[in-house]
Amino acid sequence: MTSRKREIAWIVLAVAGVVLTVLALNRFWRRVDRGTIQRRFWNPVYDRLATWYDAVDWLTFNTTHRLRLPVLRHLPPPGSRVLEIGFGSGKLHAQLAGQYQMAGLDLAPGMQRLTQRRLSARGLPSDLRTGSVYAIPWPDASFDAVLSTFAFSAFPDADAAMDEMIRVVKPGGKVIIVDAGESEDGNLVARWLANLWELLGDYMRDEVPLMEARGLQVKREEYGPWNCIHVVVGTRPSWG
Ligand SMILES: C[S@@+](CC[C@H](N)C(=O)[O-])C[C@H]1O[C@@H](n2cnc3c(N)ncnc32)[C@H](O)[C@@H]1O
Repeated sequence: MTSRKREIAWIVLAVAGVVLTVLALNRFWRRVDRGTIQRRFWNPVYDRLATWYDAVDWLTFNTTHRLRLPVLRHLPPPGSRVLEIGFGSGKLHAQLAGQYQMAGLDLAPGMQRLTQRRLSARGLPSDLRTGSVYAIPWPDASFDAVLSTFAFSAFPDADAAMDEMIRVVKPGGKVIIVDAGESEDGNLVARWLANLWELLGDYMRDEVPLMEARGLQVKREEYGPWNCIHVVVGTRPSWG
């Protein structure tokens, strides 16, 4: 074998080795329960690194914040009672607090402190609480709308989370969810990005069947780069 051919053989072997290693790691990693990744990694990160999470909007020139804004089109009239689940660092929450009677629930005390500071600095009212979507600390039918942006994909038990979110919405009220996921046009970039989020511990879901199974009237819109973000709006029937 000439030295040129040997060189090419080594390169082919090295590339094959890297590909096989990545595939093996991917297989191993997919066996790790995503609930464990959320509990052991993301929940402490949201709590302790809330300020860093806040910096993401700044680092992305506010692109991440703009991706939350389609919720605004679906909200009930100003003055209505609105609950935000998983409000994070509170940028959307502060934007809404001037117009709506806001309440918020987040698992991370660090996020609550940050959001409270943001609200207090502007003199905005909101009933913020630390707690889990699986046990929302408000009575049935308390809100005209319950919204959540980029948080539903962090909840391991989608059925329990959806049941609770619907429980606290008034008949005729709305559940509004913004999150990332695959696109209905099947484009490969959105699929690849969804794959990446799943490797990081998120759950890429279609919330439409979850809402329809609970009797909500549902509409879904996609937007953002490669249509990889969606907003799903479920309206609770006025009689139930
Ligand atoms: C990816 S961040 C999204 C934050 C913000 N809504 C946004 O648009 O950037 C997910 C948020 O959900 C919160 N969270 C995670 N699990 C939760 C749970 N079981 N109940 C309530 N909030 C939860 C986290 O603390 C975090 O603030």
